[in-house]
Formats: sequence, C-alpha cells, structure tokens
Amino acid sequence: MADAAIRSIVARQILDSRGRPTVEVDVRLADGSFGRASVPSGASTGTHEAHELRDGGSEHDGLGVRRAVGHVNGEIAAALRGADAREQRGIDARLRQLDGTPRLERLGANAVLGVSLATCRAAAAHLRRPLYAHLAALAATPEITLPMPMVNVLSGGLHAGCGMDVQDFLVVPAAAGSVAEAIALAGRVRNAAARLMQRRGLVTLLADEGGLAPGFGTAHEALQLMVEAIEAAGLRQGAEATIAIDVAATSLWDADASAYRLAREGRLATSDEMIAMVEGWVRDFPVVSVEDALAEDDWAGWQRLTASLGHRIRLIGDDLFTTDLARLSRGIDRGVANGVLVKLNQNGTLTGTLEVVAAARAAGYAAVISARSGETEDPFIADLAVGTAASQIKIGSLRCGERLAKYNQLLRIEEESGAGFAGMTAVRR
Ligand code: PGA
Ligand code: ZN
Repeated sequence: MADAAIRSIVARQILDSRGRPTVEVDVRLADGSFGRASVPSGASTGTHEAHELRDGGSEHDGLGVRRAVGHVNGEIAAALRGADAREQRGIDARLRQLDGTPRLERLGANAVLGVSLATCRAAAAHLRRPLYAHLAALAATPEITLPMPMVNVLSGGLHAGCGMDVQDFLVVPAAAGSVAEAIALAGRVRNAAARLMQRRGLVTLLADEGGLAPGFGTAHEALQLMVEAIEAAGLRQGAEATIAIDVAATSLWDADASAYRLAREGRLATSDEMIAMVEGWVRDFPVVSVEDALAEDDWAGWQRLTASLGHRIRLIGDDLFTTDLARLSRGIDRGVANGVLVKLNQNGTLTGTLEVVAAARAAGYAAVISARSGETEDPFIADLAVGTAASQIKIGSLRCGERLAKYNQLLRIEEESGAGFAGMTAVRR
C-alpha cells in the first residue's frame, strides 16, 4: 500500500452544540497519517441543501445519525480503502458515485462530508502541510488571505425562539487591520450591546450562535441598538464599524398566504414590501451586507432586490444558493445577488464546495465561508476561508466553544502564515 493510501475509515455519533447527534469521521493512511472531521447542522435550512440523514424513531427525538455512521463504517470504508487521500477530487467523485442521488439522500450528506473532510485532513498531515495550505493547493488559490469576520451580536428567528423576525444582526469591524483586531473590535461592540441591554432590563442569555436575543418587535429597534453599541464601544458607525444582516427570509415565507409572515410585527409582507424594508435599513443605518432578504425560490423578487441595492451593498444568497453550483450559476446568469454564503454541508463534499467558491470568484461574487447554527469544535472552516482566500467568514458570536474553536484557529493561522488580511475590500461595493 502506498504511503498516502487510505488504510481505515471509522465514524461515530457525537453531539453538536445544540446537543443533537452528528457524524465524526477518522481517516488513517498507510503511513499512519491521521485526519478527523465532524459535520455541522443548520436550523434555518434551505430546501435545496444536500440531505442530512437522520434515523427517526424515539432515541434523540429521531435525530440520531447511526444510519449515516453505519454507511461510513460499511459501504464507504470498503469502497475507499486503498484510495490515495491526496486525490481529493477523485475521492469526492467516488463518494457521489457511490451514493448515486443528486442530493446524497441515500448515504447521507453528513456521512459523505465527514469522510471528505477527514480525508483532506489526513492528506494534509501526510504532506506535512497546514490544512489551509493543503486547501490552497487543492483550490489553486494564487495568494491566501485572512477573511474579514462578520460577528453575530443580536439573534432572532429560529436561532432564538423566534424572539425577533430577523435572524442575525452582525458587526463588521471595518477599522480592523487584522483578524486579531477585528475580533477585539467586534468583542467591544458585542459587550457594549450586552451592557445596553442590561441597563434596559433585557435578558442577556445566549442564542444558538452565542448572540444576544433582545426579542425586539422590529428590525429598526435592533439596528438602533447596534448603532448605539458601536458608538458605546468608541467606534464611528459606518467608518469604523458597519452592520450586516441575515434575514433568513426562507423561514418567514408562508406558502399558504403566499407572503412573508413578520410574526413579531404582526403583519404579512410581499416581496416588494420586504425589498422596501431592506432599502429603509440601508438608508438609515450603516448596513453593508444583507443575506437572504427574500426566500429561497423567490427568484423574481431577488432580481428586483439586486437591481435596487446590488450596486450599494453585498446581497448574499444562503438558502437561495445552498452552496450548489447549478443554483449559483442560475443566479449569476439572472443577475441575482452579488455574494454567496458557503456552507460545506449544504453541498456535501469539499470538492463541490471549492467549485462553488471558484465560480463565485470568476463572476465577481463575494464568497462568505459560514458555520451552521449547530456546530462542533472542528475548526475546518477557518482553514477553508484562508485556503480559498475568501473575503469574509461568518462564525457566529464571540461565545461558545464551537464558535471560539474557529476564531482561535484564525488567530493561530494569522500568526503562523504571514498572510495578509482581506479587510473591507470585498465587503463594500
Ligand atoms: P443555519 O443558520 O445554520 O441555522 O442555517 C445559519 C445561517 O442562516 O446563515
Ligand atoms: Zn443565512
């Protein structure tokens, strides 16, 4: 067996940050090189994502992943034994072929992705390269950079018991000259927001991504607090700290009413009313980026939204594109959005994800590497963002071990790689 040949693949069921089961995979090569990876999971998911295989039944409320684990330990391990771990493209193609369905419904995207990522780590170990450097080689990235973090401050939607209609209000620390500075500035703003909330008697318990959940009735109130927090942190709004929003509007879409249900505001909104609402935010607040302002299949609305705001701010498609090359290509052809959220488990393989990042880059779309609301302590996406020179990364708030694992990995990579910081170049239009 050649040195980089896969000797064994072993999966197990572990728990994610919401205490739900997820898949962890260990890959060992003939020379003893080892790679381990685990798989995240969303709450505000898109219909077009790769399929997360769950067991059903009563154990873990039906969310067990023992079938996915069984597929790794059985069929997948047998098929990949002896394969060269450095051949990521071939490994991922074999996994897709083995599954045989477009969305990895049979083996489960959670099974397939765990193997894909653990194999990549094992190959990096074999090559004695940091993971980000191996990823840069796989992606043929000309020059690696550190991404600008967009840090969750206020949470709503499905990440915070629907206490606010809009899911995320994030700070983008424009004044930062490095990831370390960006984290420090964002931390100041987050702490200032918590102090303001305490002073107003609002509960400051944590939402799923470690953000605060003030439960405001309108986005306007949340944006007002964001601006006050930025100023209380001693930063000039707009110049030194800006705001990003994830509406996660797919979760607001009410198919029966054929409209967006803003439950906290107590009203229904058409696509055009949603667009007008976003236009108001951009007019009144230093908002530089809005994700999923409309639902995943509202292509006509997205076209109008992009025509209105695409030249002024980043319009990021998450549930819209679901890290799927065909959906992103359709968006590029139709002039929809100007950025794509990149989530490995929406796609299902590392190679497929790298193709999406490459297509985004070729079209001048920003690529924002993103965590899920259900995460593990695996920092893979930090290396992925650096290795692909993605302009931004979205991890959640500066709380909770599963989030800090990624922020801390960015700090280590910044120290050891000597790579430059992307800053605001690709955030601002
Ligand atoms: P999810 O949330 O992981 O619950 O989908 C993240 C996001 O919407 O960006
Ligand atoms: Zn989103």
